[in-house]
Amino acid sequence: MAKARTQFVCQNCGTVHSRWVGKCEGCGEWNTVVEEDPMGGIGAGPGKVPKKGRPVALTTLSGETEEAPRIHTGIAELDRATGGGFVRGSAVLIGGDPGIGKSTLLMQSAAALSRRGHRIIYVSGEEAVAQVRLRAQRLGAHETDVLLAAETNVEDILATVGEGKRPDLVIIDSIQTLWSDTAEAAPGTVTQVRTGVQAMIRFAKQTGAAMVLVGHVTKEGQIAGPRVVEHMVDAVLYFEGDRGHHYRILRTVKNRFGPTDEIGVFEMSDMGLREVSNPSELFLGERNAKAPGAAVFAGMEGTRPVLVEVQALVAPTSLGTPRRAVVGWDSARLSMILAVLEAHCGVRLGQHDVYLNVAGGYRISEPAADLAVASALVSSLAGLALPSDCVYFGEVSLSGAVRPVAHTAQRLKEAEKLGFSQAVLPAGSADLPKGTGGRWNEIEGLPDLVARIAGSKNALTRQDEDV
Ligand code: TYD
Ligand code: MG
Repeated sequence: MAKARTQFVCQNCGTVHSRWVGKCEGCGEWNTVVEEDPMGGIGAGPGKVPKKGRPVALTTLSGETEEAPRIHTGIAELDRATGGGFVRGSAVLIGGDPGIGKSTLLMQSAAALSRRGHRIIYVSGEEAVAQVRLRAQRLGAHETDVLLAAETNVEDILATVGEGKRPDLVIIDSIQTLWSDTAEAAPGTVTQVRTGVQAMIRFAKQTGAAMVLVGHVTKEGQIAGPRVVEHMVDAVLYFEGDRGHHYRILRTVKNRFGPTDEIGVFEMSDMGLREVSNPSELFLGERNAKAPGAAVFAGMEGTRPVLVEVQALVAPTSLGTPRRAVVGWDSARLSMILAVLEAHCGVRLGQHDVYLNVAGGYRISEPAADLAVASALVSSLAGLALPSDCVYFGEVSLSGAVRPVAHTAQRLKEAEKLGFSQAVLPAGSADLPKGTGGRWNEIEGLPDLVARIAGSKNALTRQDEDV
């Protein structure tokens, strides 16, 4: 018989190594590789007695199908992120940093669903019943029929939720606390987490209950992160936000039953999470329109336009290598914009520190933000405030050209709705709204943008001379 070999599994990404290494080759994280027993659990290989296969009936792609049956929570931002509500018989993973508000969100959803007459079971593996009750009271959820259990053993949980009438939705908070008798590894390891999650998914598929699994994003090794089960579930949502800010964003990264680029926006208050149906107003709330270095970006999140302020500070450096610090955007992308400004526009930033910040703790992932970033940088360097009623969007290429981006009409409509009457956007943008009174300034390349901003300087000095 082959000797049972131990294996070394990265707790962040699940990569299997044959020996212990300090840095995982799969994801590059340090100190995340731990020894696990490969016997039992998923990935243990075939059982001892190979079973003879049984042929299954093959079918075609055409045929009768029905819409996935959904459970609506009535919380519009949550329903939007899930693509129209939780799907029966499916498993959804909600990941996020500890303390970001996952349990709060799910307790509020459970209460909302329960009020609509659904049978909801909330299994807490992290907090005792009394703690969960306290939170429920604070959220005004205590007078609903949500059923509660504090349990971490997979077999016990399955026996509990399988008893009596079928639940419509089961919430497991969190997958890292699950442990099964069938897996040998310690609780919290990849093997335990995967075994537990697979058992929950099987329960969802068999009974038609929707399963919501909470997973903490872990920075340290030893405890498996939500990434290791992403491939097993039907949908993955990440709840993110900045601890220093109240906004929380529920972002869809995988969805077998809906779109993946939707977001739901919430605000954390002392009464729990509040829906934010117009995020732009929130992100632009505390704007100082007269300060140089601020540009409003007209962005898109899925089907929804979002306006946010990009702030830049360009200051002479006292260091040999100037600093580049970015919050809320990709730092590689910032380096690219700086290089294009240097190479094609004659904007010298080599002797300057550059700080870039996206207001409100928001994170931009769209390349369309290039033009807004470039505007903020040039505005800060020149010490000239940009017009307060102007939005910016467009992708910048390495040649310095500004390329059109999708959804021009929607971006401009949102901007107009919030009182912006000008836009700087790429030449050749399709579907520009006509006759709305807005001034849409189309530019071909980044040098045009720099000339516009520098041109406003001439205008200002001329004005000064007149006075
Ligand atoms: P929680 O839902 O426990 O986070 P997670 O389950 O993701 O670990 O939320 C924890 C934070 O939210 C905690 O720091 C307190 C804050 N909070 C409020 O500000 N208001 C509230 O009404 C609640 C319930 C929590
Ligand atoms: Mg929690």
